[in-house]
Amino acid sequence: MQAGLEAIGVAVPDTYVELADLAMARGVAPGKYVEGLGVTRMGVPLVDEDTVTLASRAARMALESAGCSPEDVGLLVVGTETAVDHSKPVASYVQGLLGLSTRCRIFETKHACYGGTAALQLALDWVRSGSAKGRKALIVCSDIARYGVGTPGEPTQGAGAVAMLVSDTPALLALEAGKTGVYSKDVMDFWRPLYSKDALVDGHYSVQCYLDALEGAYRAYQEAAAEPVGEGAYSDRFAALVYHVPYGKMSRKAHRHLRTLDGDAAPDASFDRLVGNSLVLPSQVGNIYTGSMYLALASLLSTAPQDLTGQRVGLFSYGSGSCAEFFSGVVQAGAQERVKALGLEARLSRRRALSIPEYEDVMRAREHLDERPVADAAGSGFRYQGTRDHKRIYAT
Ligand code: HMG
Repeated sequence: MQAGLEAIGVAVPDTYVELADLAMARGVAPGKYVEGLGVTRMGVPLVDEDTVTLASRAARMALESAGCSPEDVGLLVVGTETAVDHSKPVASYVQGLLGLSTRCRIFETKHACYGGTAALQLALDWVRSGSAKGRKALIVCSDIARYGVGTPGEPTQGAGAVAMLVSDTPALLALEAGKTGVYSKDVMDFWRPLYSKDALVDGHYSVQCYLDALEGAYRAYQEAAAEPVGEGAYSDRFAALVYHVPYGKMSRKAHRHLRTLDGDAAPDASFDRLVGNSLVLPSQVGNIYTGSMYLALASLLSTAPQDLTGQRVGLFSYGSGSCAEFFSGVVQAGAQERVKALGLEARLSRRRALSIPEYEDVMRAREHLDERPVADAAGSGFRYQGTRDHKRIYAT
């Protein structure tokens, strides 16, 4: 049975910070953030936005894009590492806001940036096993990436959600059964203690952990795929490669490493062809943790000028801590038109820039967001209004 992505939805905050402005405020050359890290803008949510509102907006877009009724969804999993409650899952709030059926299995997954991929693989197995009985899974990756103000991680923040409708009619991407390689290892590269709103990271070590995991997962994929030995670089079997994107330069480092493993003496030469289009949207949003690789996939499908129909795409998901997976899918006819119709680039261009003092005010205000008294909902769509009697209140 085929299984894969039938539709996708993306939500980002309405406001962002220009990385060049942030660099100047921190006394750093703008080139370090913009060219050195490969990030132009990072999404910064205001106080009426949280992991729930982003997830709900992305999920609604995915359902509307597929013309799917909430009754068709039999499994809803939200992958996140920035949840809003120690017990109640983000997925339950999303169920309520979207009006999903009471006959839907609902929960949350966590493994740093890998949590969404864990949920996706589970959904694919649910569909392939026949347990879905024609129903669809809604997998939502939603996060607000936050490091301390003034730390090296600060320019690699971001916020956003990507929702994927997973079914046996994968109109966008059919994921290849059995073609997946996993690598996991207990490392202390990035974490967020229970008492902290900010993530802590051993930055340069985390880059090395990512590259080690890429190597392990790529080798495991090659063994699992067990394809005949061919001429040239193994990764030329893919029309595009989509890496987890904590910042654009990380994808460049990843690609260089992967092509070196392939024995390519000029490992950067294939970067624009195989990776470039996947970075257009992430460079405008920053790291969105669980959703980062899926935003890169949406970027590839909405910006690639060539027809990818019938072509294979390689996907590499990395979550600190760590667990990583390399897997692949085949682009379906009409997929690029469907994703282009979401108008993602135009949506990003309609956001409002925050000055650095405004951004710093928002960061301070967000520290106490969980206890914020209920305020009137601002704007349209799903909004976090505040907390009353220890209960979060949302506007629809
Ligand atoms: P840093 O140490 O301040 O930066 O922080 P740097 O000194 O390494 O410089 C960065 C790049 O800018 C370098 O390029 C410089 O040469 C260049 P590279 O050598 O790497 O190619 N540069 C310039 N370029 C142009 N003009 C200039 C200039 N100056 C310097 N004037 C670091 C960098 C990534 C460590 C930091 O931002 C950080 O700690 N970020 C957070 C951690 C992170 O994103 N790690 C990625 C791998 S782990 C992962 O992906 C998992 C994660 O998503 C979490 C999860 O799983 O949940 C993070």
